[in-house]
Amino acid sequence: MSIQQVDYDGQIPYNVNLGSDVRVKRALEKWHPGYLNWWKDMGPEGFQESLVYLRTAISVGSKGWAKFDYLRMPEYRWGILLAPAAEGRTIPFGEQRGEPAWQEVPGEYRAMLRRLIVIQGDTEPASVEQQRHLGKTAPSLYDMRNLFQVNVEEGRHLWAMVYLLQKYFGTDGRDGAEALLQRRSGDPDTPRMLGAIYEKTPDWLSFFMFTFFQDRHGKMQLEAQAQSGFDPLSRTCRFMFTEEAHHMFVGETGIGRTVQRTCEAMVQAGQDVPYDVANQKAR
Ligand SMILES: [Fe+2]
Ligand SMILES: [Fe+2]
Repeated sequence: MSIQQVDYDGQIPYNVNLGSDVRVKRALEKWHPGYLNWWKDMGPEGFQESLVYLRTAISVGSKGWAKFDYLRMPEYRWGILLAPAAEGRTIPFGEQRGEPAWQEVPGEYRAMLRRLIVIQGDTEPASVEQQRHLGKTAPSLYDMRNLFQVNVEEGRHLWAMVYLLQKYFGTDGRDGAEALLQRRSGDPDTPRMLGAIYEKTPDWLSFFMFTFFQDRHGKMQLEAQAQSGFDPLSRTCRFMFTEEAHHMFVGETGIGRTVQRTCEAMVQAGQDVPYDVANQKAR
């Protein structure tokens, strides 16, 4: 199978040759129902049965990597896609700089890499959890579609990290993957791992701020991991950028539109203090 094609025969679209890796394929198929339960519990509330016009990543090629269609979100094809291997890639930094990039996890960095991947994986579903009520107050269908697109792709990023855990980290990895489905953003007993993800996203301005700042920060984080000496992590993160670009677009244009409309409303109201809401209502 070429790296540019995705196998849609199984439940899980992928370009990582799972067909010859029965152990990992089974582990993922086992993890899938728990993921779907999580999505139904914590994914967008009230819209699970709605047909949404979504793009699905089907290839890692620069041309035509996605297809668009109407589908119900629980039926989204969350796939595992890695950017093509760069031939002869070497470790770009640190003591091992210049040595061939690792195709397997080196023993001395195993715990650290596992933790890094678990933390990355933990941030992905956390934003979906925080944003699950927003569909009900979407300013437009356009915004609602963008929200759901971001949500399903964050779900796919979780898959991407779970694949790495299950493929390269044995029993530890499987436990880590399982725990990613147990934690919940803001839950006092089983919270997500990074504090930034506890921030509530109760309204659309918060959502636009999140996609403006957090997704930008997420891009830096991915950029750093794309430099990893552990090649499968690097390749996974390189493909995730492709989707992240749209998340930042949502934030940037959302804030742009909000500022534009605020200015228009202020001009209309003859007001020059943007946060003087009470005064504006009184006019
Ligand atoms: Fe993400
Ligand atoms: Fe994102």
